Amino acid sequence: MDETSSAAVQTKSLLKKFGDVVAVDGLDLRVEAGSFFGFLGPNGAGKSTTIKILTGILQPTSGRASILGHDVVDDAVAAKQLTGVVSEEGALFERLSGTEYLEFIGRMYGMERPTIRKRSDELLDLMGLADDSAKLIVDYSHGMRKKLSFAASLIHNPKVLFLDEPFEGIDAVTSRLIKSILDQLRQVGVTIFLTSHILEIVEKLCSDIAIINHGRVVARGTLDELRTRAGGGESLEDLFLDLIGRGAGEDHRLSWLDGDVP
Ligand SMILES: Nc1ncnc2c1ncn2[C@@H]1O[C@H](COP(=O)(O)OP(=O)(O)OP(=O)(O)O)[C@@H](O)[C@H]1O
Ligand SMILES: [Mg+2]
Repeated sequence: MDETSSAAVQTKSLLKKFGDVVAVDGLDLRVEAGSFFGFLGPNGAGKSTTIKILTGILQPTSGRASILGHDVVDDAVAAKQLTGVVSEEGALFERLSGTEYLEFIGRMYGMERPTIRKRSDELLDLMGLADDSAKLIVDYSHGMRKKLSFAASLIHNPKVLFLDEPFEGIDAVTSRLIKSILDQLRQVGVTIFLTSHILEIVEKLCSDIAIINHGRVVARGTLDELRTRAGGGESLEDLFLDLIGRGAGEDHRLSWLDGDVP
């Protein structure tokens, strides 16, 4: 994929099937290096599946994908070295403590122990997890796992950062902190690939947006371009609803709320 050299992320006819379910349906996507990319779509659209393929957690059924020119299947180690990820599920490895988890991740990336220790202390402190760093992940709250996962995604200084719902279940203080870190990363040229159902956040942060539905891109462009194409909708939420074609059901009343239907 020579023509991909300046693309942080590129997919070509990317397909992922789970049995009969087509989760990603021939996706062609190009995200330029240095952009803050918002990957939107309704539940089940194929966002997490795409991210899992791009980060080497799942193999595609067919098609190709690359990170900064490195194929995620044929050149997986190089692609992974350049990549950080906060997955939907948050941190795994429940029987490790926060510190041990960051050490494990750092070692996986081939980092030297003193560097891991230094960055790990800084990240745990920044995330407000310093007092819980010796506690096992199994005893962490949902938000604490997300914060640890965010810390782990940054430890090896990735060039492309995948964030699958990073703000989900996060308190307002941490959310502000994460936004400020993302801003710092953007300033040094890190590509950020974000999924979020919180459209106000996407609207504020993302310079480039794709909306997918049923595993296919249904809209692509800057926020302004998408608004124009959708006929000047006021917000990203209006636009999203227009494009996804939902909104029906809004006026539906649950059948058992009225009358004497059993
Ligand atoms: N491991 C799996 N086995 C079978 N089907 C799966 C698996 N993972 C995802 N799917 C299916 O693939 C489709 C896309 O799921 P995916 O998790 O990528 O959606 P998503 O866009 O991330 O949704 P959400 O916004 O709810 O997180 C769904 O139909 C889902 O049921
Ligand atoms: Mg998902």
